[in-house]
Amino acid sequence: MSRIAYVNGRYVPFHSAKVHIEDRGYQFADAVYEVCEVRAGRLVDARRHLDRLDRSLGALHMPMPMSRAALGVVLHEVVRRNRVDHGTVYLQISRGVARRDLAFPTAAAPSVVVTARALNRDRIAALAATGISAVSVPDNRWGRVDIKTVGLLPNVLARQAAIDRGAREAWFVDHGGAVTEAASANAWIVTEQGRLVTRRADHAILGGITRAVVFEVAKAQKLDVDERPFTLEEAYAAREAFITSASQIVVPVVRIDGRTVGDGKPGPLAVALRREFHRFAEEE
Ligand code: PDD
Repeated sequence: MSRIAYVNGRYVPFHSAKVHIEDRGYQFADAVYEVCEVRAGRLVDARRHLDRLDRSLGALHMPMPMSRAALGVVLHEVVRRNRVDHGTVYLQISRGVARRDLAFPTAAAPSVVVTARALNRDRIAALAATGISAVSVPDNRWGRVDIKTVGLLPNVLARQAAIDRGAREAWFVDHGGAVTEAASANAWIVTEQGRLVTRRADHAILGGITRAVVFEVAKAQKLDVDERPFTLEEAYAAREAFITSASQIVVPVVRIDGRTVGDGKPGPLAVALRREFHRFAEEE
């Protein structure tokens, strides 16, 4: 099946989908994005993803390029045309194409790109069943990583550092020794007392949609959640650790910097949160 992308009002063959070389997303990372899970052909938590998109655009003083309803139609249409049953849909909006100059262009239409791809559900389930390894890296990102921009170079380098060290994910650690989040996911631990801990969604992390839903799952299961910074030392000594993101939901972390977390197996809370997740996520 040939794949289809949406680019600025047209559905085009994926292999020939293009934006101009002077697109500000390409030149300055002057663009925002969203990644939404697709499950049984439906978008998961699209409302919350579009709310966050609104906030990201607002922070960069960019208008919504089309109505929310129209954007929803495009997202669904790209999923449908690519016959994605399980996977992700990716949306990117840049400030548009203009002569290279840092200042906002006075007249540029935003570039809107949407793609969708299938994910191997069994592979992710297998990862969740064994758990993954993470390594810590210094968090050297800018101060507004709550805005979901495509400026992901530190994340790229962090992920590669993880791979080079034989791990799958990187955990960013701030100047004070506290974990902020993972290269493309939020980071959580379970303390010896059985309390869930994840950093407060301030400017130092991306406020994950999966994270928000996991709060609801935890509440329904009467689990205690503390939103506070936790140190790398606390993570080493934790009973469980895990990450959350739209593409992987909840994935246990069983080793950090080569040290075994808990008993080295996915812990019961991470497993339960993953199992229950889709009872709380919205599908449309
Ligand atoms: N990543 N933190 C970072 C740095 C992320 O890139 C992501 C998402 C998250 C989790 O957010 P959410 O639960 O809304 O997916 C946290 C997406 C999936 C990506 O870049 O592929």
